[in-house]
Amino acid sequence: MAQRAYIESVAQQQGEQVTIKGWLHNKTDKGKLHFLLVRDGTGTIQAVVFEDDVSPETFQAAQKVTQESSVIISGTVRAEQRAPGGFELTLGELEIVQLAEPYPITPKEHGVGFLMDHRHLWLRSPRQHAILRVRAEVIKACRDYFDDNGFVLVDTPILTPAACEGTSTLFETDYFGESAYLAQSGQLYSEASIASLGKVYCFGPTFRAEKSKTRRHLLEFWMVEPEMAYADLEDCMCLAEEFVSYIVRTVLENRKAQLKLLERDTALLERVEPPFPRITYDEAVDTLRSKGLDFQWGDDFGAPDETALAEAFEKPLLVHRYPSQVKAFYMEPDPERADLSLSVDCLAPEGYGEIIGGGQRIADYDLLLQRIDQYNLPGEAFQWYVDLRRYGSTPHSGFGLGIERTVAWICGLEHIRETIPFPRMLHRLYP
Ligand code: 4AD
Ligand code: MG
Repeated sequence: MAQRAYIESVAQQQGEQVTIKGWLHNKTDKGKLHFLLVRDGTGTIQAVVFEDDVSPETFQAAQKVTQESSVIISGTVRAEQRAPGGFELTLGELEIVQLAEPYPITPKEHGVGFLMDHRHLWLRSPRQHAILRVRAEVIKACRDYFDDNGFVLVDTPILTPAACEGTSTLFETDYFGESAYLAQSGQLYSEASIASLGKVYCFGPTFRAEKSKTRRHLLEFWMVEPEMAYADLEDCMCLAEEFVSYIVRTVLENRKAQLKLLERDTALLERVEPPFPRITYDEAVDTLRSKGLDFQWGDDFGAPDETALAEAFEKPLLVHRYPSQVKAFYMEPDPERADLSLSVDCLAPEGYGEIIGGGQRIADYDLLLQRIDQYNLPGEAFQWYVDLRRYGSTPHSGFGLGIERTVAWICGLEHIRETIPFPRMLHRLYP
């Protein structure tokens, strides 16, 4: 057999004999002529099988091969303007590695429940393939950005003794007679690491027992969280806008084909660059009321509120200084207004909602103790965290960006379930 090639790079192998290992995506039968659409993970290519040019065995194999069979094909690469990707393969040999049984996912429309039950197969469809490629690009961009800007990766634990983001969404598990909780965020541990490394980030799966079904919530999602010593809310907001802009720019540059396949209108994405518009929570409340929404000062924004706020802007929006009562225990109070916190959320445009939450952390020992008490959190489990305020406490800040919300926004997806290979949602643990 000829040399192994990958579909994404056949353009450089025009006129050459190559071997491609993949799966049959689709097939058209024209009597003496068969068109096989073969994909190999890097792309899709059409292979043309002409009865007079191949052995009878090969032609028979082309006749019987079924959708999603694993196949090894060899042939000559030819430029063909009408073919998707501009190239096709004049097939010489076809080996069926495994003849697939009738495939449950056909080109006809399937319901979401059916597709979710077959998620292990659904991942192969062109649309899911494109989303997975964008997701990988987003994750790479996150890592590259922090690695290249002086942040050190620090891995934080998944089994933890205490809640970071409120006790109502904890997943509890038995830890040899003790209670352990799956991490809702790595933040508290990142706060410990900054006194060693200055600027750090953690990146891992996070867990929230969200009891409501929405288009934006998963029970298991991935979060990337930078944390910086000697940094205030302003530094945090500047980092957020630089970081988000970098991610969007990188995906636009490197994943054009995928965004096109997803039919994403990229006009607004092209405009994502610093600075982002910034409004305070108070201004946000005024905006909502001016739009006729009945919003109580002191409440947290719901999805419709976030959509209404973001509507006024083309770029992502930074909303800062939320009332302390809607935020976690660790938020530094605003020195100008004790009822506000030095917090910030980044709301994506086009109704995609909050993609970032963060802010400045409490640096003072006594105040932190007081807050832990006020929030009814178990003091012992947080002792180590409070300890950080006794040995070289500094002003510090950071945030968390949700990968799936970001992918949903960049890809323009209706629902977050498509942004992660195997989504964990309310009443959905299979496959
Ligand atoms: O706003 P959150 O809860 O912030 C934190 O966890 C902080 N400890 C982060 C930090 O400052 N280091 O979550 C951060 C982001 C949200 O903006 C959202 O993008 C995502 O995580 N997120 C979810 N994504 C999917 N499903 C869920 N249930 C999510 N909950 C939060
Ligand atoms: Mg939040």
